[in-house]
Amino acid sequence: MVLKSKRIRSAGFVEKLSFLFKCPVCASKMKVVEPASLKCEKGHSFDFAKQGYINLLPRPVKTKYGKELFEARRKLMADDRFFEPVIREIAKSALQLPAEPLYILDTGCGEGTHLNGICQMVEDRGKNTVCVGIDLAKEGILVAAGTYEGKIWCVADLADTPFMDETFNVILNILSPSNYAEFSRLLKPGGRLIKVVPKSGYLQELRTAFYADSEKETYSNEETVERFQEKFRLTDRKSIQYTKKLDRSSLEVLVAMTPLAWNADERKVAAFLQKTPKAITVDLEILIGEK
Ligand SMILES: C[S@@+](CC[C@H](N)C(=O)[O-])C[C@H]1O[C@@H](n2cnc3c(N)ncnc32)[C@H](O)[C@@H]1O
Ligand SMILES: [Zn+2]
Repeated sequence: MVLKSKRIRSAGFVEKLSFLFKCPVCASKMKVVEPASLKCEKGHSFDFAKQGYINLLPRPVKTKYGKELFEARRKLMADDRFFEPVIREIAKSALQLPAEPLYILDTGCGEGTHLNGICQMVEDRGKNTVCVGIDLAKEGILVAAGTYEGKIWCVADLADTPFMDETFNVILNILSPSNYAEFSRLLKPGGRLIKVVPKSGYLQELRTAFYADSEKETYSNEETVERFQEKFRLTDRKSIQYTKKLDRSSLEVLVAMTPLAWNADERKVAAFLQKTPKAITVDLEILIGEK
């Protein structure tokens, strides 16, 4: 028996779900055509990549995130379970919705570990899901598609997504930029936007080590919460705070994936990595909104 390539398998998987898509060029309906492309009624065509994802950007975009960074994120999130309590809380909120299956879109999904974890928890509770992850960074989607099967992974812009109106019950937006007009267009009636934003204590050990006494040492999410409330009815907000002990290799990963550390003084970074393990604070807020 000849095994089907990942490209062909992904195209086969998306075929039944092609009603979700709209052409990124002309906004018309799309369908999967042989051997492995998504094509619109007017003939604009997008090929599945050999890793199984699909690039639906009308023109390439260069982002500042590389593949190593997403591999590092995957290690910290999947192996060290750095965000486990956050993922659990999000899955709990998604499970309150009656829809079956639950159509979930993660906007700015990075390397896909959160979406995978959330979908797994929802499915473990007996609810079927259709999970779609999008990110502008091809390198993140590459890692996602290479690691997590049974989901749709697309390179796409969350401000102008290649999906039809009212297609998702849940939109996730975890530590990523938002576009509320687009999220509102995509949400089904009764659907939920679940946005995760940092609070003042988030990664405070990094802030203190690299930016003591400078304005970067503090952070407030007030403005973000205000903007959310201008566009969505805030139905719930949950603060989550905990510390997680990380060993040296995990701390190196954390430093590599945190923009906060990229511009820090090298000597301060080296000093920070000297004394391990270290307890690192996760301080986040989950905002839940409806249209
Ligand atoms: C800080 S990372 C968070 C990634 C992931 N949600 C997580 O929590 O691990 C922000 C992500 O948003 C993505 N991003 C930024 N602008 C975007 C856009 N316009 N459309 C889609 N993704 C975007 C970046 O490429 C990056 O992967
Ligand atoms: Zn088209």
